[in-house]
Amino acid sequence: MILQGKKILIMGIRNKWSIAWGVAQAVTNQGGEVIFTHHPMENMEKLHSLLSEIPGAKTYPCDAASDESIQEALKLVKQNHGKIDGILHCIAHANTDDLRNDFIKTSREGFAHASDVSAYSLVATARLAKEEDLLNENASIVALTYFGSEKVMEGYNVMGVAKAALEASIRYLSKDLGVDGIRINAISAGPIKTLSAKGIKDFGSILDIVEQRAPLKKNVTQVEVGNVAAFLFSSLSSAITGEVIHADNGFSITGA
Ligand SMILES: NC(=O)c1ccc[n+]([C@@H]2O[C@H](COP(=O)([O-])OP(=O)(O)OC[C@H]3O[C@@H](n4cnc5c(N)ncnc54)[C@H](O)[C@@H]3O)[C@@H](O)[C@H]2O)c1
Repeated sequence: MILQGKKILIMGIRNKWSIAWGVAQAVTNQGGEVIFTHHPMENMEKLHSLLSEIPGAKTYPCDAASDESIQEALKLVKQNHGKIDGILHCIAHANTDDLRNDFIKTSREGFAHASDVSAYSLVATARLAKEEDLLNENASIVALTYFGSEKVMEGYNVMGVAKAALEASIRYLSKDLGVDGIRINAISAGPIKTLSAKGIKDFGSILDIVEQRAPLKKNVTQVEVGNVAAFLFSSLSSAITGEVIHADNGFSITGA
């Protein structure tokens, strides 16, 4: 039980297919306590029914596009749960048009929106968590990214650019957080069928290609990604910060 006594805030729960849910399961399997934030427009009846599977789990509304909303959520977490040991950033959004059209057609507004919600929100969360004195010493922040930041993946478009910004932000944040003993890393997860993934053109064929070409000949599951997050939240990874760890059955190392 590598997370016994640790409190982890999971930002970005939507439904049982969410990677956030896989991380929540992995954290609780390792003895950790989970607290959630959700988009303010989420269907609360469905969300409460899902969260009832984890006794005592609480969720707080948080719009990642608003510093005020992030601050309000973090304040409530501290007020109701005290200081915490980890934050999962599991949030991304791009306009559908920007995922369906060629990248060259990305609008200024669409570029700013994807970058704001999917990348800047991590910077704001890290800063506000520090300002609110929410994090215990040796806390760990983990964000989710995708291989489309490194290579051109059909249909990923502006989200690939936003993920590249997220990964670079992690390197710079690792320096600023490191002085307080706080670590920050990303998991580059292989493709998983979630509501967000449905927005990517031909997502089904990406899953087929991974199964054929990844060294381990299979796709990853939410809980497998969750297990990597559990490791990154634990003291077993105390020497790792500013990294992007691939949890993709090896797909990213394959050549043509
Ligand atoms: N599914 C995949 O194949 C895959 C692969 C690698 C990385 N990821 C990343 O994993 C993370 C989670 O995505 P998922 O696939 O589990 O899908 P998901 O749809 O379950 O989760 C995305 C979450 O982002 C939240 N969100 C979007 N805009 C928001 C806003 N303004 N404020 C607050 N929350 C907001 C949604 O409410 C949702 O909870 C994302 O960062 C995604 O890019 C996904």
